Amino acid sequence: MTDTLLLGQTIRFVADPFITPIEDAAVIDQRGSVLIRDGLIADVGNADDLRAAHPNAPTIDHGDALITAGFVDAHMHYPQTAMIASWGKRLIDWLNTYTFPEEMRFEDPAYSSEIAGRTLDLAVAHGTTTLTSFCTIHTESVDAFFGAAAKRNMAVVAGKTCMDRNAPEGLRDTAQSAYDSSKTMLEKWHGAGRATYAITPRFSPTSTPDQLAALGALWAEHPTALMQTHLSEQTDEIEWVKGLFPNARDYLDTYEAFGLLGERGLYGHAIHLEPRELEKLAEVNAAVVHCPTSNTFIGSGLFDMAGIKARGIRTGLATDTGGGSSFSMLRTMAAAYEIAQLRGTALHPAQLMWLATEGSAQALHLGGQIGSLNVGATADITVLNLASTPAIAQRSTRAGTLWEALFPTIMMGDDRAVAQVYIAGNAA
Ligand code: GUN
Ligand code: ZN
Repeated sequence: MTDTLLLGQTIRFVADPFITPIEDAAVIDQRGSVLIRDGLIADVGNADDLRAAHPNAPTIDHGDALITAGFVDAHMHYPQTAMIASWGKRLIDWLNTYTFPEEMRFEDPAYSSEIAGRTLDLAVAHGTTTLTSFCTIHTESVDAFFGAAAKRNMAVVAGKTCMDRNAPEGLRDTAQSAYDSSKTMLEKWHGAGRATYAITPRFSPTSTPDQLAALGALWAEHPTALMQTHLSEQTDEIEWVKGLFPNARDYLDTYEAFGLLGERGLYGHAIHLEPRELEKLAEVNAAVVHCPTSNTFIGSGLFDMAGIKARGIRTGLATDTGGGSSFSMLRTMAAAYEIAQLRGTALHPAQLMWLATEGSAQALHLGGQIGSLNVGATADITVLNLASTPAIAQRSTRAGTLWEALFPTIMMGDDRAVAQVYIAGNAA
């Protein structure tokens, strides 16, 4: 048994601050403490109380820094790390011009490993302890990502991206090979250590009905796996889907009709939804993933957080690297705040922090295990310096409450704000 007591300001959630009043949903302790035992959170509370209860535990004092659950990125593309912030274009041009040529390179296991390691290290440097990633069509890219995460003992979600049309030669599989390779990867990685497998049809324009049906069948055979894809990101994409699936009632129906709609489904973007799609997502308790920096960068539209949460649809938050323009979940929270403002709703910092931790974890069906400082969760922890730059410091010293002290870091912070990260209790 190895104990470590972290001291600092703490913030943790005991309920969803979109539903429960913030003062009841969030527990703040300005002299807080977290006891890590064997990689898990074993106790949490006031520093004096925990010191008295665990007098022999070695302590690490983080001073005024804020101890929070590590950030959970619920949708990203690790193969796009090296081409993040590529200029211009609408989604489909952007995919063809920048993304697909880069993804071709992941046939090479050495390149896959290099970028997988680089991505995970960048994520941790930004305070993110879990990534949910699309890989490429190559199984090499899947092995590289899960392998690099296992080396770092990180909880990750990922899957082989499947595409059998509307993608270049070299980036296409078939219905059968997508099924076979996904099954092999799923059986190898799902539940191995901290890994979770997500069956991954990229989006309906790049899969034939046969491929979608094959992946739907695979999901039915492995119902504990997740399924991740894209949904209603851009209006011209939606028009394209209508042309490709003339019998579908809407975009969501192109998944639903093939067994790809369910509680463990993760639907990235989900911006331009029809009433039926919203009803259906709520009915099956599926999760949508908000990718705000991507939605502004590629010009996709303004996600309706208030409407989605009012319908009770589970929601995660994500960078969508490299359509997204930042590895930072702080920057991602800032963009979520700005988009909500443009839709007439001001998200509270508690709601932003919840989305980036517990909300994403719940979307991934990993609630209680990650994204939480509550007892029993794995000790994936991020410590934030709330005065990381002169501009932030001069603002946060004026703050009356922790929320006021934290908000400038959410709006203006980056990797400089990350003082320390713990992965399963070990300093990263
Ligand atoms: N839709 C299908 N593929 C992608 C992708 O790689 N990035 C984004 N943002 N949208 C997509
Ligand atoms: Zn994406």
